[in-house]
Amino acid sequence: MKVVTSINELRKERSSLLEPVGLVPTMGFLHEGHLSLVGQALKQCASVVVSIFVNPAQFGPNEDLARYPRDMERDKALLEHQGVHVLWTPLPEQMYPPGYQTWVTVDEMTLPLEGTVRPGHFRGVTTVVAKIFNAVQPEKAFFGQKDAQQAAVIRRMTMDLNFPIEIVVCPTVREPDGLAKSSRNVYLHAEERKAAAVLYRSLSAAKEAFETGERDAKKLRRIMEDILAGEALAQPQYVSCADPLTLQELDYVKDNVLLSMAVYIGTTRLIDNILIQKEK
Ligand code: PAJ
Repeated sequence: MKVVTSINELRKERSSLLEPVGLVPTMGFLHEGHLSLVGQALKQCASVVVSIFVNPAQFGPNEDLARYPRDMERDKALLEHQGVHVLWTPLPEQMYPPGYQTWVTVDEMTLPLEGTVRPGHFRGVTTVVAKIFNAVQPEKAFFGQKDAQQAAVIRRMTMDLNFPIEIVVCPTVREPDGLAKSSRNVYLHAEERKAAAVLYRSLSAAKEAFETGERDAKKLRRIMEDILAGEALAQPQYVSCADPLTLQELDYVKDNVLLSMAVYIGTTRLIDNILIQKEK
């Protein structure tokens, strides 16, 4: 595995990679969720580039940028072991040179859900992902369903800016009790870790209600809210039953629905979702 930091070095390595090239953008502190994306990329592509960059532009002023977990040596070993071809660890001063003022924004889709509580977050995500796409020029890029709105926004940006890149969205990898794997799970104390299973429990209950015929979005939200209310350590921020493409809240569910939520467990903010789609 080649490890590169500057964009020039990256471009040099990129030019000698076998195509198709698959890209997995990450912020590091890798877990099985990230590694499942890498596995898919290795399966579908001749070469795989992984980027690790804790992107300051997508963190709000009161968010966890400074304490975001990092372990570059462990990440390198994991990626090397999996058979990744290039690891790119961009330099913050190269990604955002002094005087930086160019941003990529996606409009309506970034306003609901995460957008209501993390203003500016998606502007940071779309900008850095566009920059990474430009630098790596992959044929395919791999994202996780765990961050459903992010994946939808990146698909939109890719279409709107005509990036010749196929976006592949991979299923959420979970712990045995259903908790979605996340770099932020390390913030949870033992009690909180147990309580955190309530997110998937409540999403699963709503999914089950849908499968047995419930189509009233208010009732589906209510099912999730009631289960969350039964967990003393859980403080929901939003509970949503939305159209998977537009991300607008639904009144009535037809075939496709994105059930999603953001919940504080103690001081740790967790997000999770289940996407229900009619098979084509
Ligand atoms: P990060 O949180 O490190 O996640 C990198 C990728 O891993 C994202 O596509 C995310 O959806 C996926 N992922 C995280 N947990 C997962 C899980 N449990 N199962 C499956 N996939 C999972 O998302 C980001 O970084 C950043 O916003 C980034 C896109 C890199 C831009 O900075």
